[in-house]
Amino acid sequence: MWLCSKAIARATAIVFIANLHLIAGQQIPEEPTPSLADTLTLSINPPNEALNAFFPPSILNVQTPLAIRYALFFAVVQYELFAACDATALSFFGRKDSIPNRFCSDRDTRSVIQAHMTYRLLDSEFPIDAKSPEQFLSRLGLNPLNRSTDTSTPLGWANVVANRFIQYFVTDNWNSQGDLSKTDFRQQYQDYTGYSPVNPSHVRPRDLQFPLRWQPLTGAVDRRGLFGSQVHVVPQIGVRGKPLALSREEFEQRQAPPLYHTPNRRRSLSRKDRVLARNLLRKLFQRSANLTEDKISLGFFWENKFISLGIFALYYQNLLGISDDVMAPLFLAEMMAQHDAALVAWKEKRRNDNVRPVTLVRRLLTGTRVHALKGLKDGVGIVKAEEWEPVVPIQPHSEYPSASAVICTASLENLRIYLDTVVLKGNETIPPFEFDVVPGFAPNSPIQRTTKVVFSTPEEAARSCGESRLDSGVHFEPSVPAGHRLGKGIGKAAFAHVMELVQGRVPKNCERCFDY
Ligand SMILES: *[C@@H]1O[C@H](CO)[C@@H](O)[C@H](O)[C@H]1NC(C)=O
Ligand SMILES: *[C@@H]1O[C@H](CO)[C@@H](O)[C@H](O)[C@H]1NC(C)=O
Ligand SMILES: *[C@@H]1O[C@H](CO)[C@@H](O)[C@H](O)[C@H]1NC(C)=O
Repeated sequence: MWLCSKAIARATAIVFIANLHLIAGQQIPEEPTPSLADTLTLSINPPNEALNAFFPPSILNVQTPLAIRYALFFAVVQYELFAACDATALSFFGRKDSIPNRFCSDRDTRSVIQAHMTYRLLDSEFPIDAKSPEQFLSRLGLNPLNRSTDTSTPLGWANVVANRFIQYFVTDNWNSQGDLSKTDFRQQYQDYTGYSPVNPSHVRPRDLQFPLRWQPLTGAVDRRGLFGSQVHVVPQIGVRGKPLALSREEFEQRQAPPLYHTPNRRRSLSRKDRVLARNLLRKLFQRSANLTEDKISLGFFWENKFISLGIFALYYQNLLGISDDVMAPLFLAEMMAQHDAALVAWKEKRRNDNVRPVTLVRRLLTGTRVHALKGLKDGVGIVKAEEWEPVVPIQPHSEYPSASAVICTASLENLRIYLDTVVLKGNETIPPFEFDVVPGFAPNSPIQRTTKVVFSTPEEAARSCGESRLDSGVHFEPSVPAGHRLGKGIGKAAFAHVMELVQGRVPKNCERCFDY
């Protein structure tokens, strides 16, 4: 359930890559000899070797905060080169870098610098996945292992800037090197802040000491007799993470109101919470019994942030013909918004630490039968409440608020503002987002036919992202509006922050600026 076998991941990735060319619905004519820049530029239209190399199967099913971190690295690197080559823009660190003009004017050189910096950052932060781009760059005769810092050469310039990024990201408190938790036998991204669930995973839900608090779930790992229990993924980022666009104060102020009246009550639920919980479960099963194949498909689409949120900017780049120099800051603002949204969501998940629906169902409804979706094949029917499972995998973290709602709201808010003010200049409405989800596109999705996704506005897309988590049965209803409220304003802050940099000013509250 939480570990994906390599074979499945690879098969998924192949279909994923094979289907990406459908995004824009058009083919680029074959070129006889592609330039080095063409070979190195990640293309989804059609998918190319660079895309496969930089997004190997091993990364595609990674947990959402780590997926955001991975994509953020592409954004900071792309932005850094744009800023260095631009007359006005400041770097991610608020500096004006000098770069030889010839590096900027030559497309191949620019691409080599960008690919090398991306590889260096991935090698530091995601070394397992970085093997794939390393082999790719070596095959092209480039020197990924060369650490020269001679800034008169493209490789040296790339290394100097990459070193600055590496220095920042190994100390941004995610424990990416595992050094904050151990001296030897380090585990990357391990918690070091002493987070511990109040309920152990092996106790039956009806015997839990804190019935409204999160219980790590137990489930099949390999479907061959290996079962495992969840460990909350990166709880440290909620208390030690460093927001990129939000000030520390804005970050701390974003709080979700408590869902339950007495969440820490021992052994039993108060009368008020019992009524509330039964109500929430009733609504959850109403949704479950109302599921359609389209809704299930949408649930799997939104489940993976690489392939859902990740394609919005690309879709509009193709549709509106957005230039690379406009895309670079847009992509950075988008990833900063997602990054800060993930930190806010994790802060609130950790603070509330609420129980997931499956646990509460087993606690309150064991011995009863409910009307719910039994599976794609069996459709809706009567099931024993204690056997019910949501339609998508339940991620290894507490329930409240919905991280998807926070992240989608923040990211799509930035997209809305960016397209309105920079691309369309307030003069036109944003065209709808239309996308065919073909079988196999969304990892893990069991849907065997193509379903069409249409969102007339970015706001509608954000609402769909939140709703899909409710339809999927992994959240209670209040988690989604709470998530939308937490995310609101983060996209705007990320946009403003990046526009300051683009216009040559150091944004206020830029904690990282000048230090690196
Ligand atoms: C490493 O890169 C530098 C700068 O491009 C170059 O001068 C040097 O020859 C390279 N070293 C090796 C071993 O390739
Ligand atoms: C059931 O689904 C329909 C159509 O998808 C929707 O309009 C309706 O509000 C849903 N009802 C519930 C209880 O979710
Ligand atoms: C609308 O767009 C046109 C060109 O696309 C531009 O010349 C004009 O100034 C814009 N109007 C406003 C109000 O932004």
